[in-house]
Amino acid sequence: VKPFEVRIVEVGPRDGLQNEPKILPASVKISLINQLSQTGLKTIEATSFVSPKWVPQMGDNAEVLQGIEKVNGISYPVLTPNLKGYEAALKAGAQEVAVFGAASDSFSKKNVNCTSKESIERFRPIFEHAKKDGIKVRGYVSTVVGCPYEGPIQPKAVCEVVEQLLDLGAYEISLGDTIGVGTPGSMKRLLDEVLKLDKVEKFAVHCHDTYGQALANILTSLEYGIRVVDSSVSGLGGCPYARGASGNAATEDVIYMLHGLGAQTGVDLDKLIKIGRFISNELGKPSESKVNRASRNK
Ligand code: HMG
Ligand code: MG
Repeated sequence: VKPFEVRIVEVGPRDGLQNEPKILPASVKISLINQLSQTGLKTIEATSFVSPKWVPQMGDNAEVLQGIEKVNGISYPVLTPNLKGYEAALKAGAQEVAVFGAASDSFSKKNVNCTSKESIERFRPIFEHAKKDGIKVRGYVSTVVGCPYEGPIQPKAVCEVVEQLLDLGAYEISLGDTIGVGTPGSMKRLLDEVLKLDKVEKFAVHCHDTYGQALANILTSLEYGIRVVDSSVSGLGGCPYARGASGNAATEDVIYMLHGLGAQTGVDLDKLIKIGRFISNELGKPSESKVNRASRNK
């Protein structure tokens, strides 16, 4: 196997926690991020600057972002749905933000209270400010293969949103299978079209594991040359506005697979497993990571 590098975008502190009914204290989130910063991860999505009425778990966003020890060379992006969120994020010291669009209008309305097109208009001022402020902007597209309200989503609908986000200036596009309904088949059909729009280096995948397909979908993406993978420690995750969505691919499991493929991630799996246990204990539930469970007695 030709050696290759993969960058993991650890979304546990954000995607992993946003759907958890038990509100964790900011100190636990800060500890989680600080521990993750010691594993070799290069990108750790820290929190989201969304409405606390919509997502109460992220209501401590500024406290968390300001409270973490920022390690040189690690990026700590945060989600920003609109200019209000962007301004709050910057005030709290964000240096990278992520906007989140969707290929399905029904999901978009449930998630951010407007259509996909309207959400792009809310992103426009974020990109304009970010350019002046020297802030990197990542773009998510949700429901890339399926929507909880509309069912299967055609690649064409995804391509439209991807193009708009690239035009606005997103440095990377993360393709989100929000409810984890994708299979290697639907991922292939998607990537066949999306990868015509720009070079493969621009794309990441964000696979939820609801139907147990996340690792297979990630492997399929790797075969297409994708080298940025979103995942969540302990397999936490879910979107409060996507009925039936469960956790992301567990970072422990993704790292195990990548190292088995001979890929370099720079991530220390043993440290990650300990952190997975830490956060599972805090939430009072067993880890969703198979690798974590398998290594319990080692
Ligand atoms: P809205 O009600 O349409 O917004 O919500 P609005 O502009 O009309 O404002 C209403 C109120 O919200 C006002 O406050 C605003 O100040 C406030 P009030 O006057 O009622 O007191 N507000 C805000 N407060 C804090 N931060 C802000 C902000 N903006 C407005 N940024 C809004 C629109 C987007 C705010 C709302 O729908 C929202 O917060 N939604 C949450 C969406 C979310 O966090 N979803 C989960 C993340 S996305 C995801 O998980 C998918 C992903 O993982 C990829 C994948 O898996 O596919 C990324
Ligand atoms: Mg997600």
